[in-house]
Amino acid sequence: MQNLFNGIAITGSGSAVPQTCLTNENLTQIVDTSDEWITTRTGIKERKIALAPESLTSLATAASQQALAAAGITAADINLILLATSTPDDLFGTACRVQNELGAIKAVAFDLTAACSGFVFGLVTAAQYIKTGVYENVLLIGADILSRWVDWEDRGSCVLFGDGAGAVVIQANKSDRLLGFTLKSDGTQNQYLNLNYKGTTQELNSSEIQVTQGKFHPITMNGREVYRFAVQKVPEVIDKTLFTAHLQAEDIDWLILHQANQRIINAVAERLEIPQHKVISNVANYGNTSAASIPLALDEAVRQGKIQCDDIIAISGFGAGLSWGAAIFKWGR
Ligand code: COA
Repeated sequence: MQNLFNGIAITGSGSAVPQTCLTNENLTQIVDTSDEWITTRTGIKERKIALAPESLTSLATAASQQALAAAGITAADINLILLATSTPDDLFGTACRVQNELGAIKAVAFDLTAACSGFVFGLVTAAQYIKTGVYENVLLIGADILSRWVDWEDRGSCVLFGDGAGAVVIQANKSDRLLGFTLKSDGTQNQYLNLNYKGTTQELNSSEIQVTQGKFHPITMNGREVYRFAVQKVPEVIDKTLFTAHLQAEDIDWLILHQANQRIINAVAERLEIPQHKVISNVANYGNTSAASIPLALDEAVRQGKIQCDDIIAISGFGAGLSWGAAIFKWGR
């Protein structure tokens, strides 16, 4: 047992995005779309796209270095690295590469896949390891490069996504700053958002022995169904989390939703009667960066001086799985 506290605190954040920017205007050269359509339906104006030598490892590492500096600890202090991603550099896992880049010699490192809910699921996972006394300092990263997996001929989905990484340091703390959480999965709706593996069976060296080999195919999405799911389930899961935390919606200082679409963000805030000035949004600049979107928005708001120590923050992620969840925490130690 390394730690005698059974609370957690989120003590630092960081983020990183690729250098290349793809505007709505640029997209009109790729698919039949317009800035006006994308802006009115989604609120997105541009997104960042990772080009070699940028990689999931490099973005995740850069975000992590900032988070460690903000928390005032070093890589050698980390016990556990959780990398929430659906777009690893290596299907065997990318967290160990990040561990190596950081020089986090003591840390156990592994990937966690829960699509756009990955950061919320990762936060709750990290909290369990700390609350049971197993680990003291956890580095949680949300990072994705969906531009690798978008179908660039599908105008209904390719305009939505962008690349990026965000990270937080979560530490053992005397009082528990994680006030409540709820996680949900519904595989009956899995077909609405996929990045599927498809293989064909072949014989090996003309022998009778067969294997199936193939590859992952680009994202397929039923936008209307995902939209419907999000505007119904996200307010519900935040309401439930408020209830378990013994809080009311008006107690929330900042609402940070997964940055998928400004219309979804507005609809959820309206349902919860949370005023716009408490809603953090940067979807216009980055599009949907999947597991990165919440920590990226969180980190920007912290660096802009909006989020202050002790502020109550509600986050909610939702996406493929289908999966969704919410967490409410007090910022800082
Ligand atoms: N540019 C121009 N027209 C487009 C377009 C684009 N990029 N994409 C789709 N269209 C067209 C469609 O072909 C359709 O044309 P039609 O009526 O002639 O058939 C029309 O616009 C309306 O399409 P529809 O899919 O009904 O639009 P929508 O209002 O539902 O908006 C989304 C589409 C994708 C923006 C919206 O459904 C959405 O945001 N869903 C959630 C997706 C999401 O967030 N996924 C990730 C979750 S983690």
